[in-house]
Amino acid sequence: MAKNSYRASFTKRFLQMMVKRKNPDEMLEESKKESLEKTLGLFDIIILGIGAIIGSGIFAVVGIAAAGGPESVGAGPALMLSMVIAAIACVFSALCYSEFASMIPVAGGAYIYTYATLGEFIAWMVGWILMLEYAIGYIAVACAWSNHFMQFIRGFEAYLPAWVVNPPIWLVNDYRSAQMLVESNGLDASVIPTFMGMPICINIPAILIIAIITAILVKGTRDSARMAGVMVFIKMAVITLFILVGAFYVKPENWTPFAPNGFDGIFMGAFIIFFAYIGFDALATTAEECKNPQRDLPIGIIGSLVITTVIYVLVALVLTGMQPTSGVEVPVGFLKAPMAYVMTEVGQNWVSGFISVGSLAGLTSVLLVLQLAATRILFAMSRDNFLPPQCQHLHKKFHTPHVLTIGLGIVCIIGTLILDLNAAAELCNFGTFTSFIIICIAVMILRKTDPDRERPFKVPFVPLFPILGVLLCGGLMLYSMQFLTTSTLLFPAWLGVGALIYLHYGYKKNRVVEIFDERKKRLDERKNKQ
Ligand code: ALA
Repeated sequence: MAKNSYRASFTKRFLQMMVKRKNPDEMLEESKKESLEKTLGLFDIIILGIGAIIGSGIFAVVGIAAAGGPESVGAGPALMLSMVIAAIACVFSALCYSEFASMIPVAGGAYIYTYATLGEFIAWMVGWILMLEYAIGYIAVACAWSNHFMQFIRGFEAYLPAWVVNPPIWLVNDYRSAQMLVESNGLDASVIPTFMGMPICINIPAILIIAIITAILVKGTRDSARMAGVMVFIKMAVITLFILVGAFYVKPENWTPFAPNGFDGIFMGAFIIFFAYIGFDALATTAEECKNPQRDLPIGIIGSLVITTVIYVLVALVLTGMQPTSGVEVPVGFLKAPMAYVMTEVGQNWVSGFISVGSLAGLTSVLLVLQLAATRILFAMSRDNFLPPQCQHLHKKFHTPHVLTIGLGIVCIIGTLILDLNAAAELCNFGTFTSFIIICIAVMILRKTDPDRERPFKVPFVPLFPILGVLLCGGLMLYSMQFLTTSTLLFPAWLGVGALIYLHYGYKKNRVVEIFDERKKRLDERKNKQ
């Protein structure tokens, strides 16, 4: 009997602790103690936003969204509709992010918003899920960067030594891509070295770019924003060039039939191209470094999303107007690098060359912001005792969380050695959908539990807009699950590992800290009485 009642009270306390919420005022107070430097203005925020969003999605993935791939049917010229659907799915979440970011402007984004509404356990899980979006997505983009870089280098074949232009495939690919290359080119499998039967691939360009980005981020957020600014300028110039030159080669007959695969093609296209919009949410994680987060973050988040949607729709119009995608077999070149491909096809090789440079710049800026966001979330999690206290140390000179930045850089470098690029990108999508859904729910909850808190920016039509966000993101996520295999299994596994880490580290650590705080409070009270 006594044993049963002990068990019941233990379970009750355990559950109470798991849903323990953190007061936003406490978060704001904490952020003042060990604060990150406030260096970002509105312009920097919009640049970071566009920097985070426009990357491999529009320079590469768009080809498969339009023409279809091994596991999906294409949208055809209706790609522009897919773009708009994906943007609408994002905009509801973007509004919810803006409400939170202006209300609780501290580092950590979705993780801290969840802590304020759904409690300790879900907050930890959201932080863990966000690592799928930012850290695992980062590895995928680093591998894509490596592919684009090698393509760029090959353009200088006449001037560079052969070992630079055509290095061994195991030195410039992840292991899955290297294996595919061996199979498709009929090469001997022994070109990939093995260790205890495992293929060894060291993707040197990916490792180098991660090391460079890590160094830039340690040096400072302001410098990172400046560098992202240069990259954003290059990629925007290149995309504008593509639209202006491409417009002269558009053949309106390529736009019919408009939706060759009907609703299936449009919806699958929206799911695939969703990847191209990922990144605007990363802005919320930099709230603590913004000079005027209440005003600038909502404008930055929604502004960068609107600007990219307009650009994407224009690119979709020109691209599908130049290349037939309706019910025809499209060349592999279009699937890999569609913009560059169509320009080469119409004899505009110089534009194609610029597009290669632009895509490299685009991917570099995405990498910068993804790693920046990942470290800011980990920083917030370390403040809440979910990570060792050393992670909170700021660099003496640069005032950046250098321990976390370098640690994450090393983990991502290891990730490039073992991770499959496609699964990484799909996992990134799952992580993003889940965090968007949770943020929409969290906005509705906080409106009920803390209605009087000052909200410099408010989501209009609550609960309609957040509910639409949940339905659209949830719908796209469930729709994709019927086609994807590896990531549909890996996603629950990732969640399971996260829950185990919480139970064995985060939960225990927080209880120890609570006991310590309680004792300190009692001691202080006793001292005050004496
Ligand atoms: N939106 C980012 C990209 O397209 C992730 O690369």
